[in-house]
Amino acid sequence: MPTAANPLTSGLAQTLIPQPCVLVIFGAAGDLSWRKLLPAVYNLNVDGVSPANFAVVGFGLGEEGDPDEWIRARAKDGVVHFSRRPLDEAHFADFARGLFYVSGSFSDSSAYERLKAKLDEIDAQFGIPGSRVYYLSVPPQVVPVCVEQLSAAGLVADPEDNSKFTRVIVEKPIGRDLQSAREVLGDVAKAFAEDQTYRIDHYLGKETVQNLMVVRFANSIFEPLWNGKYIDHVQITVAEEEGLTQHDPKTGAITGSRIGYFEGVGALRDMVQNHMLQVLCLTAMEPPWSLGPEVTRDAKMGVLHSLRPLTRDDVSRSVVRAQYVAGDIQGEDVPGYRHEVREYYDMRHQPIPPDSTTETFVAMRVFLDNWRWAGVPFYLRTGKRLPKRSSEVAIQFKSVPHILFNTDDDAPLEPTVLSIRVQPEEGLSLRIASKLPGPKVRIYPVELNFNYSEGYGGVSPEAYERLLLDVMAGDPTLFMRRDAVEAAWEFVTPILESWEQSRERYLPEYRAGTWGPLEADRLIEADGRQWRTL
Ligand code: BG6
Repeated sequence: MPTAANPLTSGLAQTLIPQPCVLVIFGAAGDLSWRKLLPAVYNLNVDGVSPANFAVVGFGLGEEGDPDEWIRARAKDGVVHFSRRPLDEAHFADFARGLFYVSGSFSDSSAYERLKAKLDEIDAQFGIPGSRVYYLSVPPQVVPVCVEQLSAAGLVADPEDNSKFTRVIVEKPIGRDLQSAREVLGDVAKAFAEDQTYRIDHYLGKETVQNLMVVRFANSIFEPLWNGKYIDHVQITVAEEEGLTQHDPKTGAITGSRIGYFEGVGALRDMVQNHMLQVLCLTAMEPPWSLGPEVTRDAKMGVLHSLRPLTRDDVSRSVVRAQYVAGDIQGEDVPGYRHEVREYYDMRHQPIPPDSTTETFVAMRVFLDNWRWAGVPFYLRTGKRLPKRSSEVAIQFKSVPHILFNTDDDAPLEPTVLSIRVQPEEGLSLRIASKLPGPKVRIYPVELNFNYSEGYGGVSPEAYERLLLDVMAGDPTLFMRRDAVEAAWEFVTPILESWEQSRERYLPEYRAGTWGPLEADRLIEADGRQWRTL
């Protein structure tokens, strides 16, 4: 049941040809599947862009009663709460006919036998040639056992076999540091060839993140200025209002907790190693000579290679970590990190140690040692329980000379800023100086604003929709290559080590509902700059 023309989804349908397959979601009882994956597949179906012959199988533990009925009810609940489209009963019933569940433990070989039998049955029922996409929505330490069991059960097709394909989607974080990431990457590579492996970073599927390349390379005015000669600094912010416990957006009831995953992981591994460094790559990369997957990914690698490594001293000067304590967000009291509610569907939870030093906020200053960006600081900032959900890439241009209009040192002109709003009000704006009407020359900053919803209408497809389609179409461009994952860990691991070795056990705190600790302000203010107010 395709819906009326949405320029974004109709564009997808034209460029990608997803091939018939079964999507198997490992960990389908979990939070990601409920909030993102099942609603994404539903929306692809509504848009009419799923493969013609297609089914979804959830795999794992955690169900109650009849497995197929349970996953259908769970998917419906996810659609009701999180889908960009409201639930359409008739359409959902149609979608649910292709939705199944196999119950079993990831380490139990007999569960894979049952999975295999179910997949064969579904192939026959839906006319699917044996092609599979395995989505490993599981904790990083479980990935190796899943790929080993899949391979041992004969569930991985030979990459040379043209009659069918097997592809695996691996969720971040891959590993906990460089060494463990290399181990996981190696384990996956034993079972899957590189072109069968899709390491997902859902930020790369966001329309606004993809638009970074378009803004830079499809407009002649930006690229000539996109360097240290004209740019003073860049700020990349990913601010989240949510803590580690989720509430039903409608009733306010607690619906889930990610503490079991997050405790001991922290914001550096969860957000910086992947999402933020990937956004940095797209902001700072050299123009690739084509849009081919390898060429684009090579260009991004250039950024990761030029990241100046942080020594232990640099870490204390250039990186701030912090944890939220109780506060209030938009008038509602919220608990501190160490008092968050821990469990619901998440079966991996651990109690939070009272002296937990898991950071929920990170701010840092990084430099790229290359010709284009020499001397230009990039400030990265991310945190949970900040005043609002708001993410952007802000390019702040250098000030004009102190002549004509910029002569008052006490009231300098506001600098020109290009802000690419990643979410939630997707769009971009350019702040420029303008003359206030009147006999005197008074200068005022104005925003030239473009908003996705006004410009294109409707809500853009979710990142997971685009990325699932890409996997089914065999396009790896928006996925992380193995060398990129390693390079990102190479940069981040010394920070983790420095924190571990640090004798200071003091972790700065910030009140929930504020923009982070004072230390983060000092970090940027020491350079004569300020965080942007979002
Ligand atoms: C996930 C992180 O990858 O991204 C979460 O694990 C985070 O901690 C989420 O909340 C943010 O994604 P989005 O799309 O809501 O910005």
